[in-house]
Amino acid sequence: VQRKMSTLPRVYVTRQIPPEGLKILRESGQVQFELWDSDDVPVPRKELLQKVKGVDGLVCVLTEKIDAELLDAAGPNLKVLSTMSVGFDHLSLEEHIKGLICVGIRVGYTPDVLTDAVAELTVALLLTTSRRLIEATHEAKTGGWGTWRTLWLCGHELANSTVGILGLGRIGVAIAERLAPFKVKKFIYTDVAPRPELASIINAEYVSFNEMAKQSDFLAVCCALTPETKEICNKDLFSKMKNTSIFINTSRGGVVNQEDLYEALSTGQIAGAGLDVTVPEPLPTSHPLFTLKNCVILPHIASASYTTRNAMSALAANNLLLGLRGETMIKELKL
Ligand code: DGY
Repeated sequence: VQRKMSTLPRVYVTRQIPPEGLKILRESGQVQFELWDSDDVPVPRKELLQKVKGVDGLVCVLTEKIDAELLDAAGPNLKVLSTMSVGFDHLSLEEHIKGLICVGIRVGYTPDVLTDAVAELTVALLLTTSRRLIEATHEAKTGGWGTWRTLWLCGHELANSTVGILGLGRIGVAIAERLAPFKVKKFIYTDVAPRPELASIINAEYVSFNEMAKQSDFLAVCCALTPETKEICNKDLFSKMKNTSIFINTSRGGVVNQEDLYEALSTGQIAGAGLDVTVPEPLPTSHPLFTLKNCVILPHIASASYTTRNAMSALAANNLLLGLRGETMIKELKL
């Protein structure tokens, strides 16, 4: 047993990932893996750099920065990198990933399996923000609930609205599909280029970035964080939006300039914002955005359903095993 164990490819898993993925790894008989056995604290960088030495495969989550230093520490055995996330900006952005793939490291990720959960949470966050649910429960609990008042806690409704999607992909389509029954009047989207096939599913019109800013009553950010989208939501965007508009971000905090967002929210330039993602994460409790009533902040939970997190875990494990066998991964990043 001792001898057999030592010849199996070595894998490091940077987190206690949900049980389905661990079961797949354990029962595969294909790898020997070591695990950072906690879900509450990420593996310290120093420990990670030690543990990856000589590994053939690595399963990581979005809290690990995968960069040149880490690859150097891992050394030439590393063949497969499998992240339990759809976002891959923690892999030091696109140029770097191209580099990874060029040096023969294959990269797996977990799109599709989280689309429903993320879209569902986005709708929940949008409604929570637009109908001021957090403020409302707070008032009810703390004695602010006086008589029924005609304009108290009024928000903005989806019926007859224009919903803009910044970055139309699978998740944007899934959000629009869920919002359509709320009687949205029009869906618009912007992206680097029109995406007619996806757009036709939700009957969305392609518009310029400026038009999207001007027309959207609700603006949902659904794009990946890349060098091109970094802080794309800034003063310039907010200043063109209506002061009745609601801004929702469930992609990555890095696409937003948070100082500009604070300014737009506190001056009433826009009506509200719902954020599931921030920079940094966790956002310090002293951050000015937390002082605003019209800003709802969630701790990056869009994909957090038991079903989805287990599916992501299983997909990350299967991608890894397939990659190590030299077979086609279920979801492989190809740039
Ligand atoms: C991802 O997968 O990239 C999300 O942010 C976490 O599910």
